[in-house]
Amino acid sequence: MTSAAIVVEDIHKSYGDLHAVDGVSFTVGHGEFFGILGPNGAGKTTALEIVEGLREPDRGSVRLLDENPFPRNVSLLPRIGVQLQASAFFEKLTAREQLETFASLYGIGAARAREMLDLVGLTDKADTREDKLSGGQRQRLSIACALVHDPDVVFLDEPTAALDPQARRNLWDVLRAIQARGKTIVYTTHYLDEAEILCDRVAIMDRGRILALDTPAALVRGLDAPARITLDRGALTTADAAALPGADEVSEDDQALTFVTRTPAPLLTALAERGVLDGLQVRTATLEDVFLQLTGREYRA
Ligand SMILES: Nc1ncnc2c1ncn2[C@@H]1O[C@H](COP(=O)(O)OP(=O)(O)OP(=O)(O)O)[C@@H](O)[C@H]1O
Ligand SMILES: [Mg+2]
Repeated sequence: MTSAAIVVEDIHKSYGDLHAVDGVSFTVGHGEFFGILGPNGAGKTTALEIVEGLREPDRGSVRLLDENPFPRNVSLLPRIGVQLQASAFFEKLTAREQLETFASLYGIGAARAREMLDLVGLTDKADTREDKLSGGQRQRLSIACALVHDPDVVFLDEPTAALDPQARRNLWDVLRAIQARGKTIVYTTHYLDEAEILCDRVAIMDRGRILALDTPAALVRGLDAPARITLDRGALTTADAAALPGADEVSEDDQALTFVTRTPAPLLTALAERGVLDGLQVRTATLEDVFLQLTGREYRA
């Protein structure tokens, strides 16, 4: 076993004049949770499908578990799990039958299929036909199908996109548990806050290129952005507010008084001493700010 599960070197893919993937390189370590973030059309799915061996790059190379994934490499199939953005199911089968069918393709028994239904919270939909499931339920089924053979590397393309908040958090737990068992996860998302929580490292993609790649904490730290602290309007006069330690900037609108500060600790202490913590909110930089700085645009997924 080499040190990396995935090594991608300078892959390109064009559709006519459109450079969907325009020179992308990254490596993913064994056991790493790796996120690819970016707005619609950034090239996430194209890049992922090239790594999975579903698409041939125009140039560049991919090593997946020390193999070349393209053309379809059958020795890799038992070792990788792939959930596509638009998932394909067998026609007219129930959720349980879908999973049992996937399981049997890998020589796995029906018990594991039932376990997977439970894992993604679909036990009560076991006998429902796939085309009668809601969008989020179908998505959970496709995730279960990608995991049923216990692959070493799991690829998930926007697995949390159609999920309600509860199902989203449940899936986070599922993914964390998979990672805790030493598996490698590569996933795409539009949710920067989610990636910040889940991922060891993230690649921020836009227009076919990786703009930044690091741990979420390092990306945010690299911004050196100030914190914003807001209070209910009228908690303090702007003059009093501006005199507080650490109040680098103060502004007020109809609802709130906002401080911009690079030293939040003394400012928060001073606010606490004055007993004006009602409605207090502290906002520090996030991956969204990283995206804004990299592209000059607000993040619109
Ligand atoms: N088969 C195809 N033929 C022509 N153009 C394509 C094809 N697949 C993707 N594209 C184009 O390539 C670009 C990248 O698409 P891709 O699906 O990789 O983006 P994405 O980052 O996954 O977006 P989303 O967040 O919407 O899923 C888009 O502009 C898309 O229109
Ligand atoms: Mg996509």
